[in-house]
Amino acid sequence: MTQKTYKIVSPQEAVKIIKSGDHVHLSSVASVPQCLVDAMVERGRRGEFSNVYVHHLHTEGPAPYASAELEKAFQHDAFFVGANVRKDVQAGFADYIPVMLSETQKLYRGGYLPCDVAMIQVCPPDEHGYVSMGTSVDATLAAVETAKTVIAVVNPCVPRSFGDALIPVSMIDVFVEDNTPLMPAHFTQPTTEEIAIGKHCAGLIEDGACLQMGIGAIPNAVLTQLTTHQNLGIHTEMFADGVLPLVESGVINGKNKKLDNGKMVSTFLMGSQKVYDFIHNNPRVAMMDVAYTNDPFIIAQQPKMTAINSALQIDITGQVCADSLGTKFFSGVGGQVDFIYGASRSEGGKSIIAMPSTTNKGISKIAPTLNLGAGVVTTRNHIHWFVTEFGAVNLYGKSLQERARLLISVAHPDHREELDRAAFERYGSHYHFVRK
Ligand code: COA
Repeated sequence: MTQKTYKIVSPQEAVKIIKSGDHVHLSSVASVPQCLVDAMVERGRRGEFSNVYVHHLHTEGPAPYASAELEKAFQHDAFFVGANVRKDVQAGFADYIPVMLSETQKLYRGGYLPCDVAMIQVCPPDEHGYVSMGTSVDATLAAVETAKTVIAVVNPCVPRSFGDALIPVSMIDVFVEDNTPLMPAHFTQPTTEEIAIGKHCAGLIEDGACLQMGIGAIPNAVLTQLTTHQNLGIHTEMFADGVLPLVESGVINGKNKKLDNGKMVSTFLMGSQKVYDFIHNNPRVAMMDVAYTNDPFIIAQQPKMTAINSALQIDITGQVCADSLGTKFFSGVGGQVDFIYGASRSEGGKSIIAMPSTTNKGISKIAPTLNLGAGVVTTRNHIHWFVTEFGAVNLYGKSLQERARLLISVAHPDHREELDRAAFERYGSHYHFVRK
């Protein structure tokens, strides 16, 4: 093995490589190389470049490059809209590229987007000259492969995770040191409604199932209800703290997985320090390229693949909006469609969209039509199970009118009458004729 000798430079020195018009990729979620972001933003503030494109998936922490103040310095084109850039995307100072999570890597590998500079965080090198990208492999590995320059923050707080996360130091051009702890994600305790949703989902999850859980409040609520299940596996794009007690108690053991038997597979992570500690030097966790984790045809090979994702709104035909509130972008498609489709093709697989029946302001999330401007993430052709705190219904193979009846049966009782009226207006008197 030829191990590159490398020298450490300051963040300010490292980001001097960035020039006007460059495309810069940031590693995601907890693993944002914040000291490099700060140094890059400082240069932007001083007007040392203009129109630098910034790309990333979900990120935690401050994202000043997306703000109005730095509009000239940066063009922000994210692959997912997290809370830190949401207002700026909605106001138009920042932007979003709609793309399936599985294909975020293809934007770089397929040459749709150049990557001039990849800015990542890694753990210190091991004796074989390898570093780990820790909690962010996703599209970041593709960015590293295709970037003209890779700048890595070597940080002892980055967990040494395995799988595709391990890369040789020879892939890195510039090294910076930092020891800032990874940004933890915060979760609130599940509400009564979320616990009820968790119970309905748990009722659909069979022993031996392989789980994917999406983003939002629902996944943790579901996991709390799985304590008496057996032989569950994890093949997902992300996981958080909710899986840890289930691994400890042996509920999650990956025994039934056809691929990566016994291992938990993910592509990025979003959790507390406990999660980062859990994956450190843990051979039971493989942090893999998103081209692998989110490929529907890989996902479909896991028996009883069960995908649980949440949404913002559903119409009475089963069209699911998960990325925008009307015209206002709230998040992104993420891996929802990759997993919904993959799970629906798996032997004994199930795909579930789960959400509370109303918002915290009492608005029904089940609506006659999607709000004007809302985009369809999961189409009415792809949806199978749908769950609220009032129950679980399977829309697959059901007609439009049957779907309306099923969806209304799990809507909040306060909204059922108006939804029923809307269905009647749409389908006429035949709607009330229930087929035997
Ligand atoms: N009308 C108006 N407001 C609505 C609404 C609706 N139909 N549905 C939700 N909202 C509001 C909520 O009240 C809440 O407002 P607040 O922030 O002021 O409290 C906000 O939108 C977020 O809703 P909530 O239900 O709390 O979201 P969540 O954190 O549970 O996340 C999704 C739900 C859909 C946003 C999230 O799952 C997501 O981003 N999905 C994207 C795709 C995906 O599933 N990817 C897979 C993993 S990457």
